[in-house]
Amino acid sequence: MVVAVVATISIVARLMLLSLSRILCCRHCVICKMETAVVRCAIELGIPDAIESHGSPMTLSELSSTLGCAPSPLYRIMRFLMHRGKFKGKLNSQEHSMAALILLESSPMLLTPWLSLSASVLDDDTSSFEVAHGEDIWSYSATNPAHDQFINEAVTTQGKAVLVPTMIHGCPEVFNGLSSLVNVGGDNGTTLKVLVKAFPWLRGINFDQSHVVSVAAVISGVENVGGDMFESVPMADAAFLKAVLENKGKVIIVDAVIEEAEIDKLTDVRLALDMAMMTHTSKGKERTLKEWGFVLGEAGYSRYTLKTIHAVQSVIEAFP
Ligand SMILES: C[S@@+](CC[C@H](N)C(=O)[O-])C[C@H]1O[C@@H](n2cnc3c(N)ncnc32)[C@H](O)[C@@H]1O
Repeated sequence: MVVAVVATISIVARLMLLSLSRILCCRHCVICKMETAVVRCAIELGIPDAIESHGSPMTLSELSSTLGCAPSPLYRIMRFLMHRGKFKGKLNSQEHSMAALILLESSPMLLTPWLSLSASVLDDDTSSFEVAHGEDIWSYSATNPAHDQFINEAVTTQGKAVLVPTMIHGCPEVFNGLSSLVNVGGDNGTTLKVLVKAFPWLRGINFDQSHVVSVAAVISGVENVGGDMFESVPMADAAFLKAVLENKGKVIIVDAVIEEAEIDKLTDVRLALDMAMMTHTSKGKERTLKEWGFVLGEAGYSRYTLKTIHAVQSVIEAFP
């Protein structure tokens, strides 16, 4: 994998000013804020200086050894910045309301970690969130109900209003033949509420941490079950959203798939989400199809299919 990069500090600085001027303007403000933070990260790491001192296009490994950081997070940073036009180079490797998401992303709890992005790139095991708050996002949410509520609203608003209906319309066949469905990390059950309404023969099991399901509403056709998905998951014909690998049935994953070769108009959002994953979690990331294939193969899934829908996310069906 080679990244050829050409850039100057003045170009980065000029583009930062452009980004800042757009911050208040539109639904892209979430992305603009990320862009500003990632550009800040690049400057803190010394990326423009390193490239300028080098004097000619640099490979990713040259850049990572010059900066003293791991190639993998650096690659993701560079991929995002190159896509946004901050650097020129070549990669050889491969609307709806955003109000709740903007509220979540612009809350002090989630803004502070962006300022530690470079620290988490230098230490790949610790998320920016942990650097800022001393614990991971899920432990933090467990003891901060207001923050937990922010996440619920951002996630369920998007899911209920946009993503799940798009999936129901785009590929209803993935629910054929199922009589039960467990939504792993299903939050307050809103996603399953929409699914069982569309497919009334489904018995829904909403599985999430105990403190989350204890305050979830009672929904007809949906049973709330509390627990830790890393220990066990209720049995059902299929698991929804999360690849919970102990489950022996089919797994339906609804998540972003980054396609580096084929750029479409939503690639921008997917790459920005990857930056959010890097900032808010220690191991979370948005994956390419090849990376999804690796994860599923390691978990013993012998085959999978990809269905694209009119959304940032795609649907992967994986079979044992
Ligand atoms: C981003 S939300 C996913 C949204 C949800 N899948 C939906 O259908 O809208 C992630 C969820 O994972 C849950 N979660 C995190 N760690 C968990 C664990 N160890 N066991 C079960 N659920 C967990 C969180 O409580 C949160 O509700």
